[in-house]
Amino acid sequence: MLTLGVNYSQMHDSSACIVRDGQILFAIAEERLSRVKHDARFPRLAIRACLDFAKARPDQLDEVCFGWQRPGATLRHDLKCFATGAAPITYLNVLNSARHFLSMWHQNGGANLFRYHLGATRARMRFVDHHLAHALSAFAFSGFPEATVVIMDGRGAWEATSVWYGHDGHLDHILTIPWPNSIGLFYAEFTDYLGFQKNSDEWKVMGLAPYGRPGINLREFIVPDDSPYRVNTNRLAGRGSANYSGIVSVLGPRRAPESELEDRHKNVAFAVQDACEQAMTAVVRMAIEKTRCRNLCLAGGVALNSKANGKILASGVCGRLFIQPAAADDGAALGAALAPYLGDGRRLPQSPMRHTYFGPAADDAEIENVLRTYKLRYTRLGDPAKTAAELLSQGKILGWFQGRMEFGPRALGSRSILADPRDPEMNAKVNNAVKFREWWRPFAPSLLAEAAPEYLQSAFDSPFMVVTAQVKPEKRNVIPAVTHVDGSARPQTVEQAVNPLYWRLISEFGKRTGVPVVMNTSFNLRGEAIVNSPTDAVRTFFSSGMDALVIGAFLLEK
Ligand SMILES: [Fe+2]
Repeated sequence: MLTLGVNYSQMHDSSACIVRDGQILFAIAEERLSRVKHDARFPRLAIRACLDFAKARPDQLDEVCFGWQRPGATLRHDLKCFATGAAPITYLNVLNSARHFLSMWHQNGGANLFRYHLGATRARMRFVDHHLAHALSAFAFSGFPEATVVIMDGRGAWEATSVWYGHDGHLDHILTIPWPNSIGLFYAEFTDYLGFQKNSDEWKVMGLAPYGRPGINLREFIVPDDSPYRVNTNRLAGRGSANYSGIVSVLGPRRAPESELEDRHKNVAFAVQDACEQAMTAVVRMAIEKTRCRNLCLAGGVALNSKANGKILASGVCGRLFIQPAAADDGAALGAALAPYLGDGRRLPQSPMRHTYFGPAADDAEIENVLRTYKLRYTRLGDPAKTAAELLSQGKILGWFQGRMEFGPRALGSRSILADPRDPEMNAKVNNAVKFREWWRPFAPSLLAEAAPEYLQSAFDSPFMVVTAQVKPEKRNVIPAVTHVDGSARPQTVEQAVNPLYWRLISEFGKRTGVPVVMNTSFNLRGEAIVNSPTDAVRTFFSSGMDALVIGAFLLEK
């Protein structure tokens, strides 16, 4: 069976994924091809890339599955809440939903656009509930025979948080907390209040939080209760408004974007993160009480809060934990593609995910062609891993472009910028030369899986950088550039069997320095999508202060 999963909600992160007999062949977000970050348009480039990789025509697809409900679900929910007062929804929300409905209805949820851009197909068009798509993307790739599945995001068509029980190749729905009672909405509104872009810059609030102090009480906005949390959206939004005015009346003026960060902003970030962690932990606790299964799967954009994930793991509330690395809406395409395996006596395929290298690759001939076209001076390397390790040990900042691109928000050794984590100044150097981003945002380490117990207090099996761990106190000075102010790090543990080339690079760096750890950040400039093609990589290399680029078998130096 050949199925195509599509995320197209018109909100953000359009993507596509092609699955044959339960195995992911290829997956990519539209932004990587269109170069428009968080691209929300119909993912025609991504779908085309999926079909090309599978060498399939549109009419060879059995099903095309959209990870969003049929047009109308959002408007129906919002109208009902507005009419009955069941949830505090403003007329602006309803107006937005109506506009969204009209557009989706016109496009038949994307099905019309599929035919328009890709041509005729006999494939069945299926609309999968958004949270079900997230839940499938978490459970089916967890490798757990049985699991509690918790989905938390800003919003689905009408969902905010949902709980599922996965077992025996099936997924049972346990409960849904409807939007706008949404942890993601709460976090997003405060992200906006702190002068960042909501639904995009939540990382910045998470990174800022450890610089704040406790003291600010946000119980007016989010309170624990039996459900097990309640977001007071009336208080967040203020009267008749769909923005942050309610926060302003309690906490004072909003921070202007790019303006000086005051202590009170850091303290607000601390309080927001703390409230989020408590709400997430309460949801997980409640979910596990209902299913009585301690294997936990998480997905939905809120599950990218690596700090909260680390706290959940450390609290002991769950047993084993799998977080879908593409937890945001791009990953809904993965789950949607599996929807045909539900019901009618079928069973979900179980394929544990150990990597995210589902994107395009470029071979050496293609790369050399690009380098020649641009008349660049380059060297062909005998051993790219060894050369890269040598350059890193000399303090060079390195672009690293190898193999198939990662799917999801994290660069995991295919499209990465690498540097020496031992240099306490390296964080500032990479920020100033390459990433041009805020000083407080931490960089993450990639380390040999074998070395994890030596450096970390937990998260020894952390292949996706979605769980924060504490660096052992005696190692914090050894890898200062990737240790956050509170002693935490967001590690990628690299296994030899999963990515032999990247493993060897880190291993060679370890041989030279005694530290089998490198600093790894995504290969992109601030505000841009991660590089996809050799051309993207070369352009980004020359638009930044990177010292060298190892791309396939070739080395470029400045
Ligand atoms: Fe979502």
